[in-house]
Amino acid sequence: MNSPLRHAPAPDLLARFAAIVGDRYAVTDPAALAPHLIEGRGLYNGTTSMLLRPGSVAEVAAILKLANETRTPVVPQGGNTGLVGGQIPFDGELIVSLTRLDKIREVDATSNTMTCESGVVLAKAQDAATAVDRLFPLSLGAEGSCTIGGNLSTNAGGTAALAYGITRELMLGVEVVLADGRILNLLRKLKKDNTGYDLRHIFIGAEGTLGIITAAVLKLFPRPRAVETAFVAVPSPAAAVTLLNLAQARVGGTVTSFELIIREVMEFGIKHGPNVRDPLASPHPWYVLMEVASQQADGPRDSLEQLLADGAEAGLVIDATLAASLDQAKAFWHLRHTLTETQKPEGGSIKHDVSVPVAAIPDFLAEATAAVIKLIPGSRPVPFGHVGDGNMHFNVSQPIGADKDAFIARWSEVNDVVDAIVTKYNGSFSAEHGIGKLKRDKLAKAKDPVALELMRVLKRQLDPNGILNPGKVL
Ligand code: FAD
Ligand code: MLT
Ligand code: ZN
Repeated sequence: MNSPLRHAPAPDLLARFAAIVGDRYAVTDPAALAPHLIEGRGLYNGTTSMLLRPGSVAEVAAILKLANETRTPVVPQGGNTGLVGGQIPFDGELIVSLTRLDKIREVDATSNTMTCESGVVLAKAQDAATAVDRLFPLSLGAEGSCTIGGNLSTNAGGTAALAYGITRELMLGVEVVLADGRILNLLRKLKKDNTGYDLRHIFIGAEGTLGIITAAVLKLFPRPRAVETAFVAVPSPAAAVTLLNLAQARVGGTVTSFELIIREVMEFGIKHGPNVRDPLASPHPWYVLMEVASQQADGPRDSLEQLLADGAEAGLVIDATLAASLDQAKAFWHLRHTLTETQKPEGGSIKHDVSVPVAAIPDFLAEATAAVIKLIPGSRPVPFGHVGDGNMHFNVSQPIGADKDAFIARWSEVNDVVDAIVTKYNGSFSAEHGIGKLKRDKLAKAKDPVALELMRVLKRQLDPNGILNPGKVL
């Protein structure tokens, strides 16, 4: 594979790129560029000479055609909420921002499909589904700014994957601009279309390294008639896993979310979060935020109350509160979604986005906690995450009063200890956030060598000049 140019494009080449989108949408002002060069965790600082904001698929195609001919590397960017550095230009690549491609081209309530351009913000897609009495179930803490293109490109998981699947399973068709500017149109609203290799899926989770997704056909679902949200104190992760199995077997409806939260990280939320309150009267070691949805108007409330009562009898539930209103349910979710931000004031945080078989969650958490505290005495493991997906955010906050940089410098060392335990349980070192720059070296070491070779073959064939998001994933 040829290597892309490694220096900023010359002014006359930049002018050719700017001419495609018009000067107004060719951003070079350092102050305007700055927010696109940093990411939410403050781990990375990027560099670029220009951010392009194409307003049509044709403009994206013209940009990539010129980039490919001149071997100019580009980084696609949506909402810039990615957590592995995939959307940040590290070597002066041009940023191609998809945020102007924000049209919802069609909502077909009868076929249960919605055709969105990549720059549509997730929350807007959710609202468009609700407007036709349907549900687009993808839901994550960043939904107010992440985009459909980014969700597809990272194959995002989120808090409803338990019932509806990850982004890949919510997609029926895609439109992709390839490295040479050709447009691949696989925008089908069909559940069945067995016509050769299923090319759609190679772009989902490819993190912008195989093409730029410009639109997608998404699945819609019946909007639930009743949703019940419970905040439950449990004695242990093992109790949480047993309660999940019971809930799935017993409640009248579908368990759509089941989020485990350790007390320590909830205290970060209460301490640092904007208007976060403890939903229960006294503190407990672990919590589950669970949601059940039903198509029956009289819904799952009674069976959920019965489940929690039975759970208390069986020692699985210490205390619980069922949201009495939509506002109260929103307050529970607000607590959950602030966890990403409210770890920051506690200093350095070494992150893990890992998955293990659901049954292994309790042992994984116990072993990883012991191993990390042994490695760095005083460090504070604060696991939380999506139990039904086996996906734990095993984040470790620095010891109180420690030097933040010295703690963060041990990132790989801590990762290696935790990932060894993940491997012991046949888990994954990247459950939903992807690889980006953060885990590229880990992927090269940990992934099956035949799989890695096939990924490299794909990359060489689809992006022979290496212009698409170089240095990410592979
Ligand atoms: P960006 O950050 O802009 O880009 C992400 C990657 O996709 C980059 O590699 C970029 O190059 C590529 N890309 C972007 N748009 C395109 C396109 N149109 N075509 C090709 N490539 C493209 N993630 C989860 O999975 N589950 C969670 O529960 C979750 N919770 C989060 C909570 C918070 C508070 C935050 C800040 C993040 C969370 N994330 C979560 C991570 C992040 O929100 C997701 O990865 C999201 O899908 C990124 O979307 P984005 O539009 O911000 O993409
Ligand atoms: C979440 O589920 O909140 C995120 O994926 C985890 C994180 O922000 O660390
Ligand atoms: Zn998550």
